Amino acid sequence: MTTFPEGFLWGAATASYQIEGAVHEDGRGASIWDTFSHTPGEVRDGHTGDVACDHYHRYLEDVEIMADLGLGAYRFSVAWPRVQPLGSGEINAAGLDFYDRLVDALAEKGVTPVATLYHWDLPQALQDVGGWTSRDTAYRFAEYAAAVHERLGDRVATWTTLNEPWVSAFVGHGSGRHAPGVCDPGAAFTAAHHLMLAHGLAVETLRTAGAGSISLTLNLSPVLGEAEPARLIDGLANRLFLDPVLRGEYPADVLDHLRRYTDVDLGDLKTIAQPIDVLGVNYYTVNRVVADPGSTGHPEYPGSEGIRWTAPEGPTTEMGWEIIPSGLEALLVRLSRDYPGVPLMVTENGAAFADDLADSDRIGFLDGHFRAAHAAIGTGVDLRGYFVWSLMDNFEWAHGYHKRFGLVRVDYDTLERTPRDSARWYREVIARNGLG
Ligand code: FCB
Repeated sequence: MTTFPEGFLWGAATASYQIEGAVHEDGRGASIWDTFSHTPGEVRDGHTGDVACDHYHRYLEDVEIMADLGLGAYRFSVAWPRVQPLGSGEINAAGLDFYDRLVDALAEKGVTPVATLYHWDLPQALQDVGGWTSRDTAYRFAEYAAAVHERLGDRVATWTTLNEPWVSAFVGHGSGRHAPGVCDPGAAFTAAHHLMLAHGLAVETLRTAGAGSISLTLNLSPVLGEAEPARLIDGLANRLFLDPVLRGEYPADVLDHLRRYTDVDLGDLKTIAQPIDVLGVNYYTVNRVVADPGSTGHPEYPGSEGIRWTAPEGPTTEMGWEIIPSGLEALLVRLSRDYPGVPLMVTENGAAFADDLADSDRIGFLDGHFRAAHAAIGTGVDLRGYFVWSLMDNFEWAHGYHKRFGLVRVDYDTLERTPRDSARWYREVIARNGLG
């Protein structure tokens, strides 16, 4: 038996644009993902989140599924354009009503809500005036955070400001694979800084409002390979966010690097480094890099010319991501060594596999990663919980509905939900708080 600490929080995660659908309902405004997914060529097969899993209408059924799994917690995100259709000014009470109903339904089933305030669906109206490249967006975010907390704060104790600012900044503005589809390294670094400022301002706001527990979720990825290129990529993928948020400074090498592309106001670091209660860790795989003078690098790591990403050295998921649980253990151990004193939570981990109900590969993936997390705890890491990505199949961004991450299968024609074997397996893990 591999038993987790008492009170360990087992959960599952989703995000608003990936599951809700109902994009025109109850006064919701447009987000950058509405615009992007409706732009021909941006999302595979022209898929959009217009209907998605129709969770907006089927949330009661989904909460029922969560209760059946015995989930301790559910991590969802709030769609900013539902709450504030134009990203500033007027609050749309009808949009908040949805989350109000959701939170009440969760409470009724004893599932703890963990609310993420931003999982990539920026109001289009803010994008039209610069989006995350505009400093003003950070202040708008803090105002929006206050409005959501004011409505839900009596029932939601755990708040996450942003999900994966690296992806917003560098996939959104570096490679342009995600909304808003910009390819400009300067914009990407500027966006990264403003996202962190937004986080810090929201932490201040939430703290003042009396929020119970405040966190930030980062996608972190150990970088393996030759020391020099690995250090640069680790700087751009991991330390670029970890150090400002948890130490109040940009790492010197990263600052030198980013100054080639943009200017950032170092005076913001004090705000960015507001103490947080938990660090959310999304882990999927590792980066493997070597020096290669002929390589053009990767647009999501501006300035990575001369670095080449090498092939996975083991089995991969349907995303092509190497399955490497030891990366999770190494990451958790490193975080607690380099940034001590901050409790950790795995806020996303999971895998896309072929569309089977008998998903032994997903069970194997999760089993391996749960064991890695357990091993990290054994070395003294303060890991508080684990959220599987995802509760159900959903809109996987530029891949549309082609990649299935769900414990629960979704039939996109009928919208019927069917728990996979992994869902039943996870229920047992939760019930015994460990692995057999
Ligand atoms: C993460 C995202 C999440 C999902 C998984 C597979 O980067 O936070 O929305 O797409 O990847």
